[in-house]
Amino acid sequence: MKRKWWHGKTAYQIYPKSFCDSNGDGIGDLRGVIGKLDYLQELGVEIVWLSPVYCSPLADQGYDISDYYNIDPRFGTMADMDELIAEGKRRGISIVMDLVVNHCSDEHEWFRKACEDPDGYYGQFFYIRDWHEGEKLPCNWRSYFGGPCWDLLPGHTDKIYFHAFHKKQPDLNWENPELRREVYKMINWWLDKGLGGFRIDAIINIKKLLPFQDFPADRDDGLCAIRRMLEKAEGVNVFLREMAEETFRRYDAFSVGEVFDEKTGDLPLIIGDDGYFSSMFDFAEHVLARDPRGWYAWRCPTAEEYKAACFGAQARSAGVGFLSNIIENHDEPRGVSHYLPEGEHSETAKKMLGGLNFMLRGLPFLYQGQEIGMENTVFTDIAQVDDINTLDEYRVARRAGLTDAEALAAVAPFSRDNARTPVQWDGGPGAGFTTGTPWLPLNPNYTRINLAEQRGRADSVYHFYRALIALRRSETYAETVVYGETLPYRPEQENLMAYYRKGERTLLVAGNFQKEAQDMPLPGPVKAVLLNNLQELKQEGDLVHLEGFQFLVLEV
Ligand code: GLC
Ligand code: CA
Repeated sequence: MKRKWWHGKTAYQIYPKSFCDSNGDGIGDLRGVIGKLDYLQELGVEIVWLSPVYCSPLADQGYDISDYYNIDPRFGTMADMDELIAEGKRRGISIVMDLVVNHCSDEHEWFRKACEDPDGYYGQFFYIRDWHEGEKLPCNWRSYFGGPCWDLLPGHTDKIYFHAFHKKQPDLNWENPELRREVYKMINWWLDKGLGGFRIDAIINIKKLLPFQDFPADRDDGLCAIRRMLEKAEGVNVFLREMAEETFRRYDAFSVGEVFDEKTGDLPLIIGDDGYFSSMFDFAEHVLARDPRGWYAWRCPTAEEYKAACFGAQARSAGVGFLSNIIENHDEPRGVSHYLPEGEHSETAKKMLGGLNFMLRGLPFLYQGQEIGMENTVFTDIAQVDDINTLDEYRVARRAGLTDAEALAAVAPFSRDNARTPVQWDGGPGAGFTTGTPWLPLNPNYTRINLAEQRGRADSVYHFYRALIALRRSETYAETVVYGETLPYRPEQENLMAYYRKGERTLLVAGNFQKEAQDMPLPGPVKAVLLNNLQELKQEGDLVHLEGFQFLVLEV
């Protein structure tokens, strides 16, 4: 495998709206991010991905962009963005932006012009079809946020347009070379500014199965999951290769794809030495225990399911490239609430989960607040929910016969708002996030869980993450932590997740994924204990006695 400049780094995702508010309007902003760069440096991260800060009506919190070349005034100015890039660079931090080009906003100039003249130049930037009241739609795909993928083109009664996500997110027509040229021009404009690269949103969706066609309905709404078409659509690779050649490669930029549902065997094309992207997220754990009926039928994965999914992904990417490993992001519940057994949210357990994920081969991404063990929030009323995805799933649950209270309880654990509550910087009013009223209510536990408290306490979750990052960068172990092979250790031992990282040295990473203690036989003598989330290591001969949720990194 070719070595890349970003391999040994640790990445961190910022969801700007909820990160830090510098002017008291309750919305996080770029000046807030700039003010925290020293903090990020102290933590040890070297790549920062910013969720979208472009001009946007925020129908999907910025994933609906109305101007790719400007910063939304709520987040700041272009001067702030330039300063962020420069100040990041001074601290060895590359800034990565979100690239949302499967769709734009219905308030983007392209779409407005397409509405004015559907047969004109910009009409070809979208999927627009003739349609008359009472007629069948071109296909029965269900949009990700509910309802059909088709809506009336604004200003028309006989034309419709396609949207895979919300109706305020019309899909861009990648079949049109003029559109692709516009996209590449925009990417290069940002890279010319010194941007480190991009996280690429929902990218598999850019290739549609054409002509549009129906699939058997999978719910009583007569629609089918849009994923059905992704399984059949061929040719996304042609677009991805072209984009890589026209943009990222020319700059040696970092790129990480949000890739779901890629075709088996495509991994080397996507993240191999000369892949379309530097990396892509490993979502194998995140899609566990889902149910096509809707969130109301989902559950949280077990430790054994989690372990198997991680090991599967490690095996698939071995010798191919680097997956990006996460326990959470802005679309997911908080990892500690999702993967740890119910009610087991001790700092010990949080460190174990974080450590097990962080030490996998690949590029570790932390999501804001993960480093202090932020948890899912509490909802007592659906009116407290902002996220359009949750609101849709709530309706799905109600239609399936659940009461209001049952529907809320069923969807709350999976709500994207869980990750979007403001970062808990301290225990004072506004949690140090804002001096005003936060746009989304704080998680009430901020008085207990916050950075200020953890920074001053050596055994906190925060300092544990710092130690993980320091190990990844350490002179002695970096080579093994970054490039070592992952080999499962005693995978059959229930609720023990253990693996070797073998390279220059041999490390054994082990987590007791349950509250009960259990013993783990050692493969040989312990040369050094590199990390332990508890005070003690109870060893008797070649057995280690692991306490509940104990986590170890040993050199063996
Ligand atoms: C991605 C984003 C998500 C957004 C969607 C549509 O999945 O992560 O937040 O809603 O794409 O852009
Ligand atoms: Ca603000």
